[in-house]
Amino acid sequence: MRAWLDGRLLDDPDAPALSIQDHGFTVGDGVFETVKVVAGKPFALSRHLRRLARSAAGLGLPELAEPGVRRAVATVLEGQDLPLGRVRITYTGGVAPMGSGRGDGPPTLTVVADNLQPRPDTTTVVTVPWPRNERGALAGLKTTSYAENVIALAHARERGASEAVFANTVGNLCEGTGSNIFYVVDGELRTPTLDSGCLAGISRELMLEWRPARQVDEPIGVLGRAEEIFLASTTRTCSRCGAVMAASWTHPAP
Ligand SMILES: Cc1ncc(COP(=O)(O)O)c(C=O)c1O
Repeated sequence: MRAWLDGRLLDDPDAPALSIQDHGFTVGDGVFETVKVVAGKPFALSRHLRRLARSAAGLGLPELAEPGVRRAVATVLEGQDLPLGRVRITYTGGVAPMGSGRGDGPPTLTVVADNLQPRPDTTTVVTVPWPRNERGALAGLKTTSYAENVIALAHARERGASEAVFANTVGNLCEGTGSNIFYVVDGELRTPTLDSGCLAGISRELMLEWRPARQVDEPIGVLGRAEEIFLASTTRTCSRCGAVMAASWTHPAP
């Protein structure tokens, strides 16, 4: 692993480096991106940086200087042997008082490069009883306030699954904790619209460009009729097609 923090490469990426008063740490006031690295090169970096800027604006964080972020990404990847890896970019409100209000200090930017373990081409997915709030202030933003996903993923793992799928507040299919969902019904490829509250995933965006799918919002139970279900995510790529991963689906017992 190699880590960069606010302008410098850290000698020891495991050593403590952030302030314990960082607002990203104390209240989850931050945004992030996970960028796939293939043969040492970041994949779809421009798209990720655009989404990072959108998420930061949505949270009211100061605008990021893109060339600086690109340099940091290049620095953590330089000279590394990474056939398959990931770069995690995290941008937070910086040091602030212990509460929801922001401080006056500069924001914090970290960039970390690490290995990415390939996953099996197929997996098991469960639905969870908690809704995604498509009308919430964070809907559609990739923020570090991910504790809901942590709980949902733990719920999935307890049931032998590797991903948990949410409905939104009106019961329509939304997304997974770290993936968008595509499914086939009556031979038609479909995926929820962004109005469902799902993240505008980069893999979803690429899928829609490469292989048109109908964007539609329908009750999560539609998965019970699906002939195929796919997860689209930066960190879940099928080893054969490189794009998405197939999933089987389990509805939890009530
Ligand atoms: C909540 C959520 N939805 C969807 C995705 C998929 O997005 P991407 O394809 O950009 O990785 C992610 C990625 O981590 C995510 O966290």
